[in-house]
Amino acid sequence: MASDTVKTSNILEPPPNNLSDTYRGPRHDGEYRRLVSQHDMFKEIMHGKLVLAPINLSIPRLRVLDSATADGYWLVDLSHSTHPSAVLCGSDIAPQHFKENLPKNVNLFTHNMFDTWPEDCQDSFDLVHQRFVLPVCSDESSLDVIGKLHSCVKPGGWIQLHDADFDTIQEGLGHEAMELFRDVMRRSWAILGYNLSPGPKLAGWMEVVGVENLQEVVLEVLVGAAAETKEIGQRPIEVMLAALEGVEVNLGPIGRMWSGGGELSRTER
Ligand SMILES: C[S@@+](CC[C@H](N)C(=O)[O-])C[C@H]1O[C@@H](n2cnc3c(N)ncnc32)[C@H](O)[C@@H]1O
Repeated sequence: MASDTVKTSNILEPPPNNLSDTYRGPRHDGEYRRLVSQHDMFKEIMHGKLVLAPINLSIPRLRVLDSATADGYWLVDLSHSTHPSAVLCGSDIAPQHFKENLPKNVNLFTHNMFDTWPEDCQDSFDLVHQRFVLPVCSDESSLDVIGKLHSCVKPGGWIQLHDADFDTIQEGLGHEAMELFRDVMRRSWAILGYNLSPGPKLAGWMEVVGVENLQEVVLEVLVGAAAETKEIGQRPIEVMLAALEGVEVNLGPIGRMWSGGGELSRTER
């Protein structure tokens, strides 16, 4: 393993010519601000922790990979609780959003998670992390992505996957808006071939690719009036509105999709 030859500079580079951006979610600056707000929300729900895997973050030369890192915000936040000699690598298919002025030990590089990881990444990381990208994968491609990520974990290392579950909601009187949101998402993401709720499938997929010592933690997100304060309740609403925006980017205005009570279909674009 040539562990220190994973990209050690954080200079921005254009994607290789054969790397086209296949992601169909929003890409504007507002989306990246939303990701920061979502990050802060989950950090709070996780009692200030970013990593739930039982790993000592303060050891020297800790090696971490964050796949689908967006602008690298998770890694930069993690860098506050790791040793200065830690090597914190992040990759994404869209390097144009990589943060500038990164901490010296945060290195971002372009990679498509569907591709085999470079040799220098294989068996190389103490912790491999990936969050909120499997919704754009089918079950089959999720397994493929997780298998490839698992190959980057060094013996004795950990992999932490964190993903969404839009299906498990409170239903019934008083929750009609949430049910409507879930139904729009279900129908539209089915058309797109997306996975509305990869979260509950993670443990099964990880088992299939051979992950050992599996632990699953389910996080509950309190939305709107269910939250302690108005501000806390508003944040998941922003996340859900962004998900709806993603639907509109791909399928056209949601209002039109639902007009006439017809089946949601691509031809209604
Ligand atoms: C919803 S954002 C999540 C970002 C970050 N992981 C977080 O939790 O804030 C999804 C990210 O996945 C990236 N992405 C989508 N498809 C990808 C692919 N095939 N390979 C690598 N990154 C991808 C997008 O560019 C985007 O940055």
